[in-house]
Amino acid sequence: MALKERDEFSGQMTTGHEWNGIKELNTPVPKLLWAFLGTMGLFAIGWTVLMPSWPGVSGYFRGLLGSDQHQAVRQSLQEAELAKAGWTERLATGDLAALSQDEDIMAVVRQTGPALFGDNCAGCHGYDAGGNSGYPNIAHAPMMWGGDVDTVAETIRVGINAPHPETRYGQMLAFGRDQMLGSEEISALADYLVSLQGEKALTPEETAAAQTLFADNCAACHGEDAAGMVETGAPNLTDAFWTYGGDRSSIRHSIYNGRQGTMPSWEGRLSPTQIRLLALYVMDLRGATP
Ligand code: HEC
Ligand code: HEC
Repeated sequence: MALKERDEFSGQMTTGHEWNGIKELNTPVPKLLWAFLGTMGLFAIGWTVLMPSWPGVSGYFRGLLGSDQHQAVRQSLQEAELAKAGWTERLATGDLAALSQDEDIMAVVRQTGPALFGDNCAGCHGYDAGGNSGYPNIAHAPMMWGGDVDTVAETIRVGINAPHPETRYGQMLAFGRDQMLGSEEISALADYLVSLQGEKALTPEETAAAQTLFADNCAACHGEDAAGMVETGAPNLTDAFWTYGGDRSSIRHSIYNGRQGTMPSWEGRLSPTQIRLLALYVMDLRGATP
C-alpha cells in the first residue's frame, strides 16, 4: 500500500494510489449540499422580494409583483355572497308578482324549485303537481283558495285545515251522514253535477229540482253557478278537475260523507323565502303547462 503524501505543487494530500507514476490527489467532490442550499436561498430571496412576505409594523411587505391571495379569495367570496344575497334578499322581500316577471329570479326558481317541491310537496301533489286522489292538481285546476301568487304563498304558509292559528278552514259538509239531505236528494244532486260535465242528460224538471236543491244547500259555498268560491275554498264543480273524483259514485260519496282535506302549514318548516320560492314555482308550472 502506497503512502499518502502531500503533493508539492498543489499542497493537496494524495489518495496514496499511484498508476504508472501518476498520483491521484485527494480533492473532495464539490459540496452538493452547499449548491443545494444556495439554490434554495436564492429562490427564497427572490420569493420574498417578489411576493408578499416580511411582516412589518404597519402591515407586511406586499412584494414587487403585488400578488395578494387573501384579496383574491375575499373578492370571489364577496362576489358569490353578493350574487346570492342579491337574489335571496329580493326573493325574501320583493313584490311576488313583479318577481314572477323577473327572468333572473325565475331562473333561480326553476333551478331550485323542483328539488324543494320534490322533497316537500310531491308526496301528496305528485312531482308534476298534477295531483293524486285526495290531493288537488295544483298545476292546472283553478285554485280553490285563489290563484294569484300572493294567495298561493299564503296558502302554503298557513295550510288548509292545518294546526296553524291562521290556517285556511274549508269544510265540505256531510249532508247524508249528518241527515241534512235524504238519499234521493243526494242522488239528484250527484246526477245534476254529472250532467254539468255533459255526461248525463237530465229532464228539465230534474234539472230544475236539482238547481233548487243546489241553491238551498250548496250555493252558499260553491256559488250560484257552482263555479266555486275562493272565500270558502269550495271548488268549481263544473270543470274537469276533481280532487276526490268526478264520477257519480265519488260525487255522491263527497256529498254524503263530506270532505275535509288537510294541507300542512309550512311556516316554521320552510323558510319564508322557500315558501315564496315555491309559490313562484307553482305559478310558473301553471303558466308553463296550459
Ligand atoms: C300531506 C299532503 C300534502 C302535502 C305534503 C302538501 N300538500 Fe298542498 N294540499 C294538500 C291537500 C289535501 C290540499 C287541498 C286541501 C283542501 O282541498 O281542503 C292542498 C292544497 C294545496 C294548495 C291550494 C290549492 C287550491 O286549490 O287552492 C296549494 C297551493 C298547495 N297545496 C301547495 C302545496 C305545496 C307548495 C306543498 C309543498 C310545500 C304542498 N302543497 C304540500 C295536501 C298536501
Ligand atoms: C260549508 C261550505 C260548503 C257547502 C255548504 C257545500 N260544500 Fe261542497 N265543498 C266545500 C269545500 C270546502 C270542498 C273542498 C273540500 C276538500 O277539498 O277537501 C267541497 C267539495 C265538494 C265536492 C268534491 C269536489 C272534488 O273536487 O272532488 C263536491 C262534489 C261537493 N263539494 C258538492 C257539494 C254539494 C252538492 C253541496 C250541496 C249539497 C255542497 N258541496 C255544499 C264546501 C261546501
